[in-house]
Amino acid sequence: MKYSIEELIQEADKLPPLPQAAQKALAILRRPESNAAGLARVLGTDQVLTTRVLRWANSAYYGMGNRIVTVQQAVVVLGLNTVQELITTYMVSDYLNRPLPGYDLQRGELWQHSLGTAIGAKLISKQHHLNFDEEAYFAGLLCDIGKLVFEKLLRTTDLRQAPDDPSSFLAMEFATFGIDHAILGAEMARRWQLPDNLVAVIAFHHQPEAAPQHQMLVSAIHVADAAMMMLGVGIGIDGLHYPFDQDALKRLGMNEEDLLRVVSQIADEMEHAKELISNA
Ligand SMILES: [Fe+2]
Repeated sequence: MKYSIEELIQEADKLPPLPQAAQKALAILRRPESNAAGLARVLGTDQVLTTRVLRWANSAYYGMGNRIVTVQQAVVVLGLNTVQELITTYMVSDYLNRPLPGYDLQRGELWQHSLGTAIGAKLISKQHHLNFDEEAYFAGLLCDIGKLVFEKLLRTTDLRQAPDDPSSFLAMEFATFGIDHAILGAEMARRWQLPDNLVAVIAFHHQPEAAPQHQMLVSAIHVADAAMMMLGVGIGIDGLHYPFDQDALKRLGMNEEDLLRVVSQIADEMEHAKELISNA
C-alpha cells in the first residue's frame, strides 16, 4: 500500500511530543546571540532540565565536585555547545529509545546507533577540520527519525509484498510506502522548523553523492552511519545490505585507516556519553 506524505506526516504527529522539546533546544542553538544568560533564561522555565544541567556539570565525569549551582556557572564550566548537546541528546534519547520490531531493532538499538552516528560525525568534523562539529552531531542524532513512523506501519504490513531483492532496505521502504525513511525524516524535520542543513542531511544521508548542497556534512553523517554498522550497533534487518558510498570517504579526505580509527573512537566515546545521560 502506498501512502501520501501527508498521511505519513499525520502518523508522525501521533508520536509522543518530545520533538517539540528537542526543537526548542535546537532553536536556542540556532540563535547567534545564544549565551549562558540566554540559555539560563530558557532553562529557568524548566526545573527538570535545570536540575539535570547542574547534575551534569557536577558529575564525576567532569570531576568538578558539587560546586556548580547555577546554569550560568554550568555553561562556563561545560561550554555552551556541550550544554546544548547534552540537553538535546537527553530529550531525543526518550524519543529514540524504543523497540522497533518492524526493523528488528530491540529497545535502545536505534538510540545507541543514533548517538554513535552523532559522536562519529562530530569526530570526523574535528579531525578533518571541517568546521561543522555541532551540526554534524545533531544531524547524526536525528538522521533516522523517519524510521519511527515507518516502524508502526511496518508492524501491520505484509512484507511478502516487498521486492524479492532486499539489496537495500531503503528500496523496500520505497516499494512499500512510496518514500523512504530519509525523505520522510527530512519532511518531519522541515515541519519542526529545524535548520536547512539538518533537513538536507536527513534527506540525503544514504546517498551523499546526490546531495545538491551541504555535501561534506552529508558525507560525514553517511560515513559515521556506516561506522556504526561496522560496530554492529543498530543493524536490524537491513544492516548487511547497507549501501556504503566509498566516495564519501575521499570527499572528506579520509582513507580506510581513518575510518577504522573513527570506529574505535566512537566505541570509547559512547561509553562516556551513555554513562552521562543515564546518570542524569
Ligand atoms: Fe538511515
